[in-house]
Amino acid sequence: MAAATRGCRPWGALVGLLGLVSAAAAAWDLASLRCNFGAFCECDFQPDLPGLECDLAQHLAGQHLAKALVVKALKAFVQDPAPTKPLVLSLHGWTGTGKSYVSSLLAQYLFQGGLRSPRVHHFSPVIHFPHPSHIERYKKDLKSWVQGNLTACSRSLFLFDEMDKMPPGLMEVLRPFLGSSWVVYGTNYRKAIFIFISNTGGEQINQVALEAWHSRRDREEIRLQELEPVISRAVLDNPNHGFWHSGIIEEHLLDAVVPFLPLQRHHVWHCVLNELAQLGLEPKDEVVQAVLDSTTFFPEHEQLFSSNGCKTVASRIAFFL
Ligand SMILES: *[C@@H]1O[C@H](CO)[C@@H](O)[C@H](O)[C@H]1NC(C)=O
Repeated sequence: MAAATRGCRPWGALVGLLGLVSAAAAAWDLASLRCNFGAFCECDFQPDLPGLECDLAQHLAGQHLAKALVVKALKAFVQDPAPTKPLVLSLHGWTGTGKSYVSSLLAQYLFQGGLRSPRVHHFSPVIHFPHPSHIERYKKDLKSWVQGNLTACSRSLFLFDEMDKMPPGLMEVLRPFLGSSWVVYGTNYRKAIFIFISNTGGEQINQVALEAWHSRRDREEIRLQELEPVISRAVLDNPNHGFWHSGIIEEHLLDAVVPFLPLQRHHVWHCVLNELAQLGLEPKDEVVQAVLDSTTFFPEHEQLFSSNGCKTVASRIAFFL
């Protein structure tokens, strides 16, 4: 519900008027009625793309490519009543550049209840698949979870975090779900959304951004065509990445490789102001300056990019308040 207070949801004001609880209950009833009696069960899939675009524009610092790609891919997918394949996005970039933030916004603006929606499934290797020796069980579990949840509701979101720490071989079980087959295991799975997140390719993206800066090109001039091949190469060359030997890249099952650029000083400044606004605080110069002063930058010589993006901004603000 954070978005309602940010003013990006068109019905945010209405929710305020009716009271959060009754509005949520009413919407829930409507959704379940439609699920019970409608021809297509869309469960709590309630995309709000204008809200998503507005939130991205206001709060995602320095990511012109990610913004454009995500919005474009989602528009095409959501507006198509019968997609030919599930939507598969792979997000790449340095720590703290906004990958998790974007995926949580996606959950929030696509599903009632956001990350807490029963249709949103979040997998993290350290939590769900910690022991490489249990790989066979994990494979069985993951396949049956995806299959079971997609049978219950074709509009489901599967989010895979830290793809560079997945036990080798696990992601292979997803391959049949990501393509354009009409039917897999007896059900139509083409309305699902899969999002994969990793830092893999981050160093290569940083290198391209650094070279652009050296040759005095605008950051906004960096194009996807320069980044996509280097990211794909980094993934294919990384035996620790879940896509290693899975065939997922080779068979072009990814709809978009989404690069996140390293953040510069003015982006971190933007993050600090966002965070203060979230806390309902006026921008205080001393706090903003203190957070910026405590940020470390790289490469050593240029001091251009924040070492951990905006990742620790929130905790450092709390420290300096
Ligand atoms: C759906 O996925 C969750 C994991 O997110 C799993 O615990 C649950 O058993 C799955 N449901 C079905 C019906 O397979």
